Amino acid sequence: MNAGAHLTPERRKLLMLSDARRIGEVQDDNFYIEYPASSKIIRVIENMLDVPRRTQAPCLMVKGDGGTGKTSIVNQLMKTPSLASRLVFVAMNVNPYSLRFNELIADALGVPSAAGGYGRSRKDLLPKELAEVIKLRNIRGIVIDEFHDAMLVPRPEQLKNLSLIKGLSNQIYGLSVIGFGTKEARNALSFDAQLSRRFYKIDLADWSETESFRSFLAGIEENLPLKKSSNLDGPEITGYLIEKTAGRMDQVVNLLKAAACYAIRTGEEKITIDILNDAVARPWSY
Ligand SMILES: Nc1ncnc2c1ncn2[C@@H]1O[C@H](COP(=O)(O)OP(=O)(O)OP(=O)(O)O)[C@@H](O)[C@H]1O
Ligand SMILES: [Mg+2]
Repeated sequence: MNAGAHLTPERRKLLMLSDARRIGEVQDDNFYIEYPASSKIIRVIENMLDVPRRTQAPCLMVKGDGGTGKTSIVNQLMKTPSLASRLVFVAMNVNPYSLRFNELIADALGVPSAAGGYGRSRKDLLPKELAEVIKLRNIRGIVIDEFHDAMLVPRPEQLKNLSLIKGLSNQIYGLSVIGFGTKEARNALSFDAQLSRRFYKIDLADWSETESFRSFLAGIEENLPLKKSSNLDGPEITGYLIEKTAGRMDQVVNLLKAAACYAIRTGEEKITIDILNDAVARPWSY
């Protein structure tokens, strides 16, 4: 039998590694499977960045519950040079110095924002050099992951952050604001109808038993370094996964990763319903 014929050529090479190394590869977040919702979001962003500068830049809000795959899409944007070069990235949850929203934005653009002698009056939310930097570097959009964190703050700060976002999408900066967050992000936006209207809204939904889910699973299968094919996209496993995970992205992926580790350790070399049962009951006991 041609071991690993079901794998991508790149991943097939991993079959030569020890079991322990293969398990390491499984657990690493090292593959990304495109699916229609993620490609749609990326295409929308591409098109928004291509719009000529105008009074109000088009904005996007991607809403999804925890674990629906938001940050993974942001990571794909970062890895696409033609997009990444025109974007700045801010993650509201990665904020070790507790910077304020405006400081985070300035920081992401490499403009000093900490209190210092560059003439920022108390009311100025963003440093003056920012507009210039944005123009010089041809930045067209700002991606904000965990957008809701900028909104789950006391009301006065929330209003400040909202007006900052509005400012960024206005003429001087002209940035497309691209937010990824939970429904709290979207709710907060709706306080300002004028701002909310600038945002095109896309929801990231949980998986259901669809053709897209089956091709996503086929993509996962091509990347899990197992010697035998598991037919993850067959009706039995597809139905099982939806039942056990309610279709939530991170649960589907984590369950399959745990199952792949079981498949390696037991020598079975493919994912079966029995193995999935073990992985559901004891995900870390492989
Ligand atoms: N397209 C994909 N291909 C493969 N794995 C994926 C994909 N999208 C998401 N995952 C997996 O699902 C996990 C959760 O995804 P991610 O962290 O992107 O969700 P999130 O919506 O940002 O979650 P949170 O709300 O907790 O921040 C990731 O660690 C990754 O392993
Ligand atoms: Mg995330």
